[in-house]
This record gives sequence, C-alpha cells and structure tokens, in this order.
Amino acid sequence: MSVKIAPSLFGADFGNLENQIKAVEECGVEMLHIDVMDGTYVPNIAFGPDQVKSLRSKTNLFFDVHMMVVNPDRYIERFVEAGAGIITVHQEATVHLHRTLQLIRSFGIKSGVTLNPGTPIDTLKYVLDEIDMVLLMTVNPGYGGQSFIPNSINKIRDLKEMVKDYNIDIQVDGGVNLEIAPKVVEAGANVLVAGSFTFTGDINKNIRDLRNCVK
Ligand code: DX5
Ligand code: ZN
Repeated sequence: MSVKIAPSLFGADFGNLENQIKAVEECGVEMLHIDVMDGTYVPNIAFGPDQVKSLRSKTNLFFDVHMMVVNPDRYIERFVEAGAGIITVHQEATVHLHRTLQLIRSFGIKSGVTLNPGTPIDTLKYVLDEIDMVLLMTVNPGYGGQSFIPNSINKIRDLKEMVKDYNIDIQVDGGVNLEIAPKVVEAGANVLVAGSFTFTGDINKNIRDLRNCVK
C-alpha cells in the first residue's frame, strides 16, 4: 500500500487556517486530519461540526475526522453533514462500538476505530468487517507536539498481521517526524498523521521530506 499523508490541523496556526489548508492541499496530501476534542474524553477542546463545515467550503481535501468525544454517536450525523469523508471513534469512548460503526457507515462515509496507546488491538477482532481504517494513537491523545511512544512499533506490527486479510488502512497519530515515519511504515502503517511536524517551518518542504523519507 502506498503511504498517505494526513496533516493534522491541530498543529496549524489557527489564525491562518485557510492559508495553511491551501498550503497542504497544494502539496498533494491525501487527506486533512481534523481533531475533535470534547474537553471530557481528552483534557482539551477543538473543532466542532460548525467549524468543520465552514472549512469544507475552503478546500477539496478529504476530511478525516478523529473524534475524541465521549459517546460519539451524538455528533456523528453533524460531522457527516459538515463534510467528513471518514470518522474514527475511540474504542474507549463508546459502549456499543459495533453499533457506532454501523451508524457511521449508514451515512455512506468510511468508518474507523482509534485506540489509545494502552488499549489492546484484540478489541477490534470482531469488528474488522465494519472498519476502513484503524488509527493507532502513538501518544496519549489531547495535545500536539508530544514524543512518539516507542512500543507502538510492536503494536503496529501486531495490527498489520491481524488485518492482513482485510482492506484496512493503518494510521498512526502522534509524534510523527522524519525519524519516526520510516519506522512506522516499515512496521506496517500506511497513513501518517503529522501535526507539529507539518506546520512548523516550511510546510512545502516538510511534506516533501516526509514523503521522501518513506519512499
Ligand atoms: C492529538 C491529536 C493529533 C495531534 C498530533 O491528540 O490526535 O492529531 O495533532 O500532533 P503531533 O503530530 O504534533 O504529535
Ligand atoms: Zn488526531
């Protein structure tokens, strides 16, 4: 599988979002990663459906919405209406994971599950038919700019083995940079979220370097 790049908008300059989105779009990235934080599931707050909707008119990029929200079912339809192409929900934040995934797909968009660093992949075993992507958090969620948790490499390898008979993307989120990217790709990841790496300094160069380091 070829590697896809998903800049995380959470790492962008919020006072200059439209230009920052245009900059990554011009680099040809495959999707825009949008973090939704409810202040309860994670100790931070970011991007509600109305904000996502207003960004929708500014770009043609595929919207990858990462919901860090307790009981995400309450907001899924609103993020679909706001233009999400895929929604990933945290396994830890929904009691009825299977039902939540069916709800996402019922709107005709892609579905995914996110796992925190401490959550085992076994929890996905019986929902593999219901998902298009697994997002492995490689830091604890809620903040950008944290360091990659090294043991995540083993988890990526185990997940790669688990999904080998399925058409499921493996996305990693947290601490991705030029040193980490080749390691996670070698272990089996094919979608790289990068927040602070993308938006610190020269965006164009950063995306080019990221692509080149995993070729
Ligand atoms: C953290 C978010 C990430 C964040 C990653 O909870 O899910 O998407 O933006 O930031 P970096 O790439 O700086 O670790
Ligand atoms: Zn994220």
